[in-house]
Amino acid sequence: MQPLLNIAIAAARAAGHIIIRYINKVDSLSVDTKRRNDFVSDVDRMAEREIINVIRRAHPRHAILAEESGAHGDDDYRWIIDPLDGTTNFLHGFPHYAVSISLEHKHIPQLGVVYDPFKEELFTAFRGAGATLDSRRIRVSHSQGLSGALLGTGIPYRPDQNLDAYLATLKALLPDTAGVRRAGSAALDLAYVACGRLDGFWEFGLKPWDFAAGALLVQEAGGMVGDMLGGQDFVKTGNVLAANPKAFKEMVRALQPHLADVAKVNQSPA
Ligand code: IPD
Ligand code: CA
Ligand code: CA
Repeated sequence: MQPLLNIAIAAARAAGHIIIRYINKVDSLSVDTKRRNDFVSDVDRMAEREIINVIRRAHPRHAILAEESGAHGDDDYRWIIDPLDGTTNFLHGFPHYAVSISLEHKHIPQLGVVYDPFKEELFTAFRGAGATLDSRRIRVSHSQGLSGALLGTGIPYRPDQNLDAYLATLKALLPDTAGVRRAGSAALDLAYVACGRLDGFWEFGLKPWDFAAGALLVQEAGGMVGDMLGGQDFVKTGNVLAANPKAFKEMVRALQPHLADVAKVNQSPA
């Protein structure tokens, strides 16, 4: 499997070079709006093309699911690619974004790579072999629960999401914590849970390319990933809760009385 991880790393670094090359040329980029508040730039497209080229050169038959160009091929091996997670940050010169690449075999995640090209931090995970940051083993934090915890989240910004229902989950989780951060890259949020910079994270309505690599990072670093009620529906719903085991349990417990809100976040208010 190491050769597959090396391909993912090479692809992520190649995409990172493209992203950094354009860091001071954002104004020259053509930017399209996919839907309200959801942007895609030439950099996203170029980075994705580069990642697919690197993978294709080594494994022409593998299937690919990529954010900007969609699904290609049909195979037991499938690469899931977000060429630039945190496009809005990138376009604003807010230096927090990443390349996210993962590989599954028969729907079971095998490896994940999250690469922050600005900070030059490389997070990797390999099924059953742990997670690393710049080649050093990482573990989730030891926080004993929510008290004093630092959580990450994604605040809904799309019109099809119910902000009030999300705010009810924020209200349920916030009081005991030391704070909540909305940094703008779900892949990095998950990587930060994996290395203990965050104790937990929750966001509704994510896509597979946002969380596939990051979820494996958290699991391989000893953390837990589930939906808002602790089940495994997150792969289908994109409602992702990730944390160290003790914080995970407390987050699920705090969200339990808000079942109705949890169910409503991905629907616009009536
Ligand atoms: C977005 C980021 C953001 C999250 C959004 C994602 P993109 O990905 O991960 O933090 O809140 O839900 O869509 O569009 O920048 O690749
Ligand atoms: Ca994304
Ligand atoms: Ca993206």
